[in-house]
Amino acid sequence: MKSYKIAVIGGDGTGPEVVREGLKVMDAVSSQCGFKYEKTMFDFGGERYLRTKEVLPESAISDLKKFDAIFLGAIGHPDVKPGILEKGILLKLRFDLDQYINLRPVQLFDERFCPIKGKKPADVDFTVIRENSEGLYKGLGEFQNKGTPEEVAIQISYNTRKGVERCIRYAFEYTRKFGKRKQLLLCGKTNVLTFAFDLWERTFNEVGQEYPDVKKEYAHVDATTMWFVKNPEWFDVIVTDNMFGDIITDLGAMIQGGMGIAAGGNINPNGVSMFEPIGGSAPKYTGLNVINPLAAISAAGMLLKQIGETNAAEKIEKSVRTVVTTKMADLAAKKMGYSTTEVGDLVVRNL
Ligand code: IPM
Ligand code: MN
Repeated sequence: MKSYKIAVIGGDGTGPEVVREGLKVMDAVSSQCGFKYEKTMFDFGGERYLRTKEVLPESAISDLKKFDAIFLGAIGHPDVKPGILEKGILLKLRFDLDQYINLRPVQLFDERFCPIKGKKPADVDFTVIRENSEGLYKGLGEFQNKGTPEEVAIQISYNTRKGVERCIRYAFEYTRKFGKRKQLLLCGKTNVLTFAFDLWERTFNEVGQEYPDVKKEYAHVDATTMWFVKNPEWFDVIVTDNMFGDIITDLGAMIQGGMGIAAGGNINPNGVSMFEPIGGSAPKYTGLNVINPLAAISAAGMLLKQIGETNAAEKIEKSVRTVVTTKMADLAAKKMGYSTTEVGDLVVRNL
């Protein structure tokens, strides 16, 4: 029997609760599909930081490299200054494990969850490929004359040809394999960011020549957000930089039914990838058993797809779809109608 090693980081707030449901579903689907996995829990997050004053232990990266994949809940703690945990844990893992792709499917399961009037599941069904290792997230910049009236704060978007090219190449391959219309859109801002997106556009056009079967499109990021709401059906696969990808995928999450549904993968195609619900740690709901675990469950499905258990991944996706359409969508729009654990049980029952 095939066996995998999965690292689990529940993290902060409601992270551990939703991860528990993800694991419940993975347990069930693994026995149905005939594979095993061994999980190792890591306590990285705000609580550990407040206790030990250390964001990540020295050995974290080398330890995590020994796993087939990482399953992450959420990082962010109300008692820790913003930036410390995000940079020290989440971004550090993405960077040091060279997870240079952030893969974020935007998929509506039931029209009753879409805030845009008249849009059906077939209309909201696309994928954002966000560059995950460079751009404004690189953390380059400085203060000048800090705290004075002459203060200047500089934050640099760092884009390397190699970094941009590997991301764009991944996007073309992804579009060729999975794109519903074989259409890849570069989302940028060539009219203002004339260094960064000049490089992006040139690379997109050059690499694109190797993919004559893929239809190439371009849109500025501001126009992209407009089209997300006006004509989401026009999108297939989108490739963009780290910052724009961060922003447009929150909008994407909203049109697919909310943060409780949206999952993502931080992917190193040649190494260890990490999967997470894209919503935050929702501290005020911690321990209340009210947070929607479907995003975490879908993230578990993406994880299984990445390690090669496609059948199991499809079963999870189908079950999530069934639970949303038959159990959740006919309830009042705002409320989930079930507890966190009940939703996990429903997904298991419908596998
Ligand atoms: C995300 C999050 C992170 C990001 C934060 C928590 C650092 O918003 O995964 O989209 O900006 O990438
Ligand atoms: Mn974000």
